[in-house]
Amino acid sequence: MPSRFEPAGPLRGALRPPSDKSISHRAALIAAMSEGESSVEDFLDSADTRSTLAAVEALGARIDGADGVAPEIRITGVGLQGADSAAIDVGNAGTLLRLLPGWLAGQPGGTWELDGDDSIRRRPVDRIVEPLRRMGASLSCREDRLPPLGVEGAPLTGISYELPVASAQVKSCLLFAGLLAEGETRVVEPLPSRDHSERMLSAAGAEVRRRDGAVAIAAPERLEAGRIAVPADFSSAAFFLVGALLVPGSDVTLTGVGLNPTRTGLLDVLERMGADVEIAVEGDLGGEPAGTVRARASELRATEVAGAEVPLAIDELPLVALAACFAEGTTTITDAAELRRKESDRIATVAAALNALGAKIETGEDGMAIEGTGGLAGGAVDSHGDHRIAMLAAIAGLASRDGAEVSGMDAAAVSYPGFTSDLAVLLG
Ligand code: S3P
Repeated sequence: MPSRFEPAGPLRGALRPPSDKSISHRAALIAAMSEGESSVEDFLDSADTRSTLAAVEALGARIDGADGVAPEIRITGVGLQGADSAAIDVGNAGTLLRLLPGWLAGQPGGTWELDGDDSIRRRPVDRIVEPLRRMGASLSCREDRLPPLGVEGAPLTGISYELPVASAQVKSCLLFAGLLAEGETRVVEPLPSRDHSERMLSAAGAEVRRRDGAVAIAAPERLEAGRIAVPADFSSAAFFLVGALLVPGSDVTLTGVGLNPTRTGLLDVLERMGADVEIAVEGDLGGEPAGTVRARASELRATEVAGAEVPLAIDELPLVALAACFAEGTTTITDAAELRRKESDRIATVAAALNALGAKIETGEDGMAIEGTGGLAGGAVDSHGDHRIAMLAAIAGLASRDGAEVSGMDAAAVSYPGFTSDLAVLLG
């Protein structure tokens, strides 16, 4: 049954969006690699992060408190070399698919196979296979490019690797491999990407050195994740933030949100567009800056998004496209070919979703041009099983003239199971 999102009155009030997906994946994995018991406060309860908990359990880690009653879960790790052989179902989680093999590859004697849903089977893994093989890893995959991905543990040697495209997933995978490699492992990034792994590995006792666009790690004796607190997910907050800008009369405050500058490129884009957004960094949660974001309905103007801004806003570019439909002038997004390799081809699915509602978007190989038309008419949208397309269409429907009918809204549960009820709270 499609869900309907009618043009609605203002979005108003305050809420804490769900916890950060990227940080939750890393917390479970690094706790599983650690010695003894670690605790994760506010671990995200979503389809993707459940896949990660199930994966670390299959590897031999023990999980307590994941019934959703306690505010924290406890994970008893297996240590850096202690993962049991297993078949791992990563579900829809690309981050799990790309990060976990880094840890497994350096454990001789173990064998693993990672597979997932139809979308996962289209997500390229050659980006990790190629550098891991250079480190000595023994890996196999379909057409040398796609899952299922087989890993046979082998001794690894550190390398210096220049990433062809900025990717926090590939960087994190290689840093995980570096935890078990002989010598130093160094990753050079063409542009900065999210640095949650670097922060969390340092806090767990690894020596992570960052200099001139490179990050280097050497094998520690052991890791101890200790206590990790997870802030709310900026990428989830972003839906209500942009919704508030577009629906007249809105005034929304999002609390406890992770404000790591490698994640908040959207804020700079929106500022250029003339958005009324206020940020207050209130402290540090689990080694990550966190605070409050307040957004009020605004008149927007077009902008250009390219280059270094792209990795800092990669998951929010669909929302830039939505905001651009309401802005004065034509907005362009370029250098964003990576969007084609997300849960769906997000250049195609964003344009299809918004054009179905009356937008004027032209796509290119590495981005799109969005003509500001002063608003959207409404219509029917298919999420293509992509959580961010489902939530994008819902917010677009609210801000449109006639509303949106969204098929596949259940995909939102990948990162934000309570999306529709939180939206209802803000709509009063
Ligand atoms: C993520 C990194 C990004 C992002 C994804 C989560 C992560 O992917 O799009 O949603 O947690 O490391 P890439 O590393 O492929 O850019």
